[in-house]
Amino acid sequence: MSLEVNPVVKNIGRTCHPFIKWAGGKSRLISQIKNFIPLEFNNYFEPFVGSGALFFYMVRSSIIKRDFCAHLSDINSEVINVYKSIKGNLTDLIRELQYNEIEYYKDPKRFYYKLRADDFGFNDIKKAARFITLNKTCYNGLYRVNKKGVFNVPIGNYINPKIFDLENLTKVNKIMNLTNTILENYDYHNISTKIKENDFIYFDPPYHPLNETSNFTNYTIHGFDYNQQKRLANFFYELDKRKCKILLSNSDTTVIRDLYSSFTENIISINTLRSINSNPERRKNHSELIIKNF
Ligand SMILES: C[S@@+](CC[C@H](N)C(=O)[O-])C[C@H]1O[C@@H](n2cnc3c(N)ncnc32)[C@H](O)[C@@H]1O
Repeated sequence: MSLEVNPVVKNIGRTCHPFIKWAGGKSRLISQIKNFIPLEFNNYFEPFVGSGALFFYMVRSSIIKRDFCAHLSDINSEVINVYKSIKGNLTDLIRELQYNEIEYYKDPKRFYYKLRADDFGFNDIKKAARFITLNKTCYNGLYRVNKKGVFNVPIGNYINPKIFDLENLTKVNKIMNLTNTILENYDYHNISTKIKENDFIYFDPPYHPLNETSNFTNYTIHGFDYNQQKRLANFFYELDKRKCKILLSNSDTTVIRDLYSSFTENIISINTLRSINSNPERRKNHSELIIKNF
């Protein structure tokens, strides 16, 4: 692998950005989180990738001084199917998206609910186009499933929403193909066998709730309760012993501070504006945590 960043990747990557809206997406916090990216590391792992805000930031800024080797994964199969479709079959995906866009503009409500009710069986490209279309036209860009795992967010209130950005998707396709981007649909712990010393891992799990009513962890039917937070903290400690560089985001709660108490000196509180709440009045400034081991 070359020690310098590939010039083609650098050029294309300059304006790459996330192609879906995602609850808990880190785009708005990038200006703060970027300060904690280590100066030097080998491979990159983002096992709660969602919309991949940090991954795309790192592509844009050519932070890695050599060809990228990024492992992007998520337990949400629909999200990973979208990444895989963009990487593997962009032409067909664009055709489906163009069809969806035309149909949506004819009669947004009718098309949205018809698409939401659709089940495309094993056609991954149609599924990916459905996911992107619903993501860009649903209420608040939310992703929420019921107990059966069926997406149940109502239509959003948009006038002429842009369903896809052809230029960006083309760049994302090129970046993922020119670089060694590995995409997996699995639980974060599966990266354990792939991680080596001096790899950099960004953990951005569903947050521990600030209180009983503030919880939003409906990315999948599995949820992410206290035992899951504990399991993740144990993994953090294990990877620390294996001399990996780890960065983790979570809510600023006593529970999280206690779970990572051995890293107290590296627990940093950052300010943010919470956007998931449907009531704008309640989208107040609050702090959340960055925890690191380096
Ligand atoms: C806070 S979001 C990540 C947001 C992401 N950093 C971004 O910029 O869009 C949390 C993600 O964790 C995923 N997730 C939940 N449980 C998981 C698990 N056990 N293993 C891997 N991913 C999981 C969800 O599907 C969701 O995409």
